[in-house]
Amino acid sequence: MTRFIALVSGKGGVGKTSLTLALGHALAKAGKRVLLLDANLETPNLGLHIGMMSSRKTLNHFMRKEVDLHEIVQEHKDYKFSFIPSSTSYIEFQKTNPQDLKKVFDHLHNTYDFVLVDSPSGVGNEVYHVLKNTDEAIVIVNPTVSSVMEGLKSSELAKSHGNVLSGVVLNMTSWLARHEMKEEEVENIIGSQIIANIRHDKKFKKALHNQAPVTHLSPSSRTAKEINKIKDHLLMNFDN
Ligand SMILES: Nc1ncnc2c1ncn2[C@@H]1O[C@H](COP(=O)(O)OP(=O)(O)O)[C@@H](O)[C@H]1O
Ligand SMILES: [Mg+2]
Repeated sequence: MTRFIALVSGKGGVGKTSLTLALGHALAKAGKRVLLLDANLETPNLGLHIGMMSSRKTLNHFMRKEVDLHEIVQEHKDYKFSFIPSSTSYIEFQKTNPQDLKKVFDHLHNTYDFVLVDSPSGVGNEVYHVLKNTDEAIVIVNPTVSSVMEGLKSSELAKSHGNVLSGVVLNMTSWLARHEMKEEEVENIIGSQIIANIRHDKKFKKALHNQAPVTHLSPSSRTAKEINKIKDHLLMNFDN
């Protein structure tokens, strides 16, 4: 059975794309069959994070029934996961209806162990169509009151679509955690457990520049350990 997991947040820039990539890398390293789906149709950038941009066909073409699934799936030879890019072209975006996302989910049933969906931010139409087609959601928040309140909205939207809330990832926390929301406060507001607390780490900048998952760049860092906690949390409930 394929588990469809959406990484969601209320605000942009909280770390969804970076963590989709790192978590996908960690799961693939654990021997799972993993596909990363860039469902952020408006501002797709998972391909940029991983250096898998190409002129090849994208999710947009598949959604318009112009190509078959195998034509849009790319395999990463080093990280051993698969990837479906969305088009970065504005014209392509204009020609794409988010409602057609269902088609790709329908084709991915019983293919991979995990399909990680890098989702659009917010609670608008695009994320609605992602959550309609996924089973689980991980909410990513930064330790600010606004990020957490937006995260609460994302979690409510996910639950209203029948998604299991796998947990909350608190990202970009600081060492002393002064002037920022504490774990317990975040858990109380969102009503779900924090499955990882990832510090603000400049290795993310390096990872983005090197187009590599941070877990590959620094496998024994504290950051990689926290990302592995998300992986372990997901594998705990792995029923294959
Ligand atoms: N824990 C972290 N520490 C420092 N920088 C981070 C961390 N997580 C993500 N980033 C950086 O923050 C920026 C936004 O991250 P991104 O994954 O693109 O967010 P989103 O997909 O939610 O918009 C990127 O430049 C990324 O490298
Ligand atoms: Mg993103």
